Amino acid sequence: MQKKIILTGDRPTGPLHLGHFVGSLQNRVKLQNSGNYEQNILIADMQALTDHFDQPEKISENIYEVTMDYLAVGIDPKLSTICLQSELTALPELTMYFLNLLTLNQVERNPTVKEEIKQKDFANKIPVGFLVYPVSQAADITAFGADLVPVGADQVPMIEDTNYLVRKFNATYKTEVLKECEALVPENFSRLVGLDGKAKMSKSLGNAIYLKDDADTLFKKVKQMYTDPNHLKVEDPGQVEGNVVFTYLDAFDDNKEEVAKLKEHYQRGGLGDMKLKKYLFEVMDNKFKGIRERRQELSQDRGYIKSVISEGTAKARDLSNDFMKKIKAAMGLSFS
Ligand code: TRP
Repeated sequence: MQKKIILTGDRPTGPLHLGHFVGSLQNRVKLQNSGNYEQNILIADMQALTDHFDQPEKISENIYEVTMDYLAVGIDPKLSTICLQSELTALPELTMYFLNLLTLNQVERNPTVKEEIKQKDFANKIPVGFLVYPVSQAADITAFGADLVPVGADQVPMIEDTNYLVRKFNATYKTEVLKECEALVPENFSRLVGLDGKAKMSKSLGNAIYLKDDADTLFKKVKQMYTDPNHLKVEDPGQVEGNVVFTYLDAFDDNKEEVAKLKEHYQRGGLGDMKLKKYLFEVMDNKFKGIRERRQELSQDRGYIKSVISEGTAKARDLSNDFMKKIKAAMGLSFS
């Protein structure tokens, strides 16, 4: 039986943090190791440039960072294809054809982009490339012939847009060359909250713990975590809900019994924040030490990281170019 194709990816605008780890990296390693899928992981540098076009050196540095994060968490380049978007010319090519199939109104209606435009404070200087990045993302997915796209629930509209383009393309050019894809939404998916407890973990909010953070940095960040502002004295009863330390214990401590005991003790009173944070630090340090050490080793060998990218990209290039030929043939454009 033919294996199902997965396409997933990240914008290389910074190293990956624990939000990525919980929300997608862990899942990718699982999907990879199941042996049931052909997994492609796209480092979406062209997409990153849509809102960082004036900082190409930042993107190029973070291509290394993100690749090191992938390898450190257990993405195996022999089992998953790690590839670089800007080296795959079939993707912008397909994007150009897709752009004709949408009206400006439709593009402006995308809820994810709308929200991002608000956050980024572009005012009336929205780069056209940014506005249409979901179209380029649809091209990423379809040019790989992806069956499945692992995403969080909030990204489902992106997949619906992709499938709209697939249907529109097939109907316009009377073909079945493109196929629809399915969002693979992990069960009980939840975004990891940031250190401040206010919003999801993200680089731009400065509330993130990175996979590359060393033990000292990790300890500092754990100490900063938002707890219960009314828990002033050790003997006071404390609140567990909304307390970031407990959120992280739920996420990272495999010893659920101990977590239950700590919660009970905290609520009763008599468990100090510092003691609790030291416990969380130990749990997280144990969990991420191996990843951090592997990453540290990898960072000594930039040549190897580069070869992982170029080998994966070569494979993805063949695949997407072959498919692009078929797409153009379906449009009556086969002259090469
Ligand atoms: N939009 C994704 C992000 O913000 C990156 C990405 C680009 C992607 N192309 C994709 C994700 C295709 C899944 C499928 O990081």
